Amino acid sequence: MPEKKQKKWIWWKHGVFYHIYPRSFYDSNGDGIGDIPGILLKLDYLVNLGVDAIWLSPVFKSPMVDFGYDVTDYYNIDPVFGTKDDFIRLLHEAHKRNIRVVIDMVLNHTSDRHPWFAESASSHDNPKHDWYIWQKGNKFKKPNNWRSVMGGSAWQFDQRLQEYYLHTFFREQPDLNWRNKEVREAFMDIFRHWLDLGVDGFRLDAVNMIIKDKKFRNNPGLLTGVLWRRRWFTRNQPRSFKIVKQLRKLLDTYDDRMMVGEVYTLPPGDSEMAGNYLKSGDNAMHLAFDFSLMFKPFSARKYFKAIDRWYASIPEKGWPCHVLSNHDLRRIISKYGKGSSKYKRAKVAAMLLLTLRGTPFIYYGEEIGMQNTSLRRSEILDPLGKKFWPFYKGRDKARTPMQWSAGNNAGFSVAKPWLPVNPDHVRINVEDEWKDTESMLTFYSSLIRLRKEHSALFAGQWVPLRMGLDGVIVFNRISTDEKLLILLNFTSREQALSLGSSFRLEVLLSTHKVPHEKMETSLIHIESFEATLMCDLSYFETEQFR
Ligand code: GLC
Ligand code: CA
Repeated sequence: MPEKKQKKWIWWKHGVFYHIYPRSFYDSNGDGIGDIPGILLKLDYLVNLGVDAIWLSPVFKSPMVDFGYDVTDYYNIDPVFGTKDDFIRLLHEAHKRNIRVVIDMVLNHTSDRHPWFAESASSHDNPKHDWYIWQKGNKFKKPNNWRSVMGGSAWQFDQRLQEYYLHTFFREQPDLNWRNKEVREAFMDIFRHWLDLGVDGFRLDAVNMIIKDKKFRNNPGLLTGVLWRRRWFTRNQPRSFKIVKQLRKLLDTYDDRMMVGEVYTLPPGDSEMAGNYLKSGDNAMHLAFDFSLMFKPFSARKYFKAIDRWYASIPEKGWPCHVLSNHDLRRIISKYGKGSSKYKRAKVAAMLLLTLRGTPFIYYGEEIGMQNTSLRRSEILDPLGKKFWPFYKGRDKARTPMQWSAGNNAGFSVAKPWLPVNPDHVRINVEDEWKDTESMLTFYSSLIRLRKEHSALFAGQWVPLRMGLDGVIVFNRISTDEKLLILLNFTSREQALSLGSSFRLEVLLSTHKVPHEKMETSLIHIESFEATLMCDLSYFETEQFR
């Protein structure tokens, strides 16, 4: 008989992650802003949904210019989110429910109001001057051509010091100098502090940007094509990989912890580069986002190619992960068209996400089909949106409050929420969707449950059968004791799938076929935008189980 579970269950490999943007999850104290006690109150929702780990966008002390991605104190929680005790309580209660907690570590920069920066900027010979990246120059001559991710030059002139400091992001986010040993040590202490407290892992913010060219060479110009597009001298410098390895060494001195890196590449979705951050697979990052699916249009062929390339970029001992949306881009569903077919597409994408080989990350609200919220100019809070309106409206659209119910403020808060709730919450909300067997939420939670029950899904091999050329992706997931078949139709065209010979199949979950229905067939009919997960019952009759 086949053994039941052929592999040890490893939470960050085999479990499902859920990304919480704390400001927008649940407000416990009526100030209109989500907080840690709010997450505590919703832990049982996460249990019902079935997720194994949560990743919280930053909750450290912050002036909130970039809503927490500008930290002034890495050891304490911002009062808007609660207290350190609240955080410890969250750890404890989450762990009691078998949910791991991963925090967001902002490495590349601090807030310009961090005491380190105040010291650094106080004089040329302050011991912390070198903690940030300062360069000589004058008002008319910037040190080089480096650009900020947020637009404009990455250099800010400091009148008093008559020097420039580097900011890869907003001006209020000066870049730390990771070439400085003391900076590295300061962060090792910060990591240790949270590890000792019991945090299960870290999402490393902008980790591929922490080291810049030592010689401050200009990034290559437009004419040099690829080099230019990759921001050759400001990303993915050899030293950043070394630092990741050091962090890994630290994490390995603890039990069962992990880190996942944010690796934004230029051009976007460069899987090989993201894969590089896993090094040999067990000595650097545990997981890295390559974001390739996030940048692809909804096309079976393009999705397949992206997945295939991502898998090819993962080292032998490494492990992939997949993500469809996050707090920086958009709600994925808003990419899938305008009419109701977008919900059909979103279910196809959901089944893909949760049946692929590799750890799935769900962005809060994705599981109920939350879409981008359109905001007026006066409602925009993201400095990026303010800066580039109306050409680019910023990131607020994907950060509006979680839609818990059809009631006031979508059940998120008793007060006016910090960002408006999407008016579609009267239709799209947790409360109503739990009761609806056809809802996005029911679909997501069924997928998560099935992923847990079937080792083929969380740990099995991935064997593609149809590679998206005619609008469908079909693949098997196979473990020693089972073989599953996944059919995904990315188009409205119906299709017939010939299996070659006759198979006995049982439907586990489907947008169109009846669950538990058994069939014996060599030809499967696939409906428009169908997503179906089946168990191949014939598998047990093959040679190896006789
Ligand atoms: C990451 C975060 C983004 C933030 C930036 C600067 O890309 O995801 O929200 O603005 O880093 O910290
Ligand atoms: Ca609050």
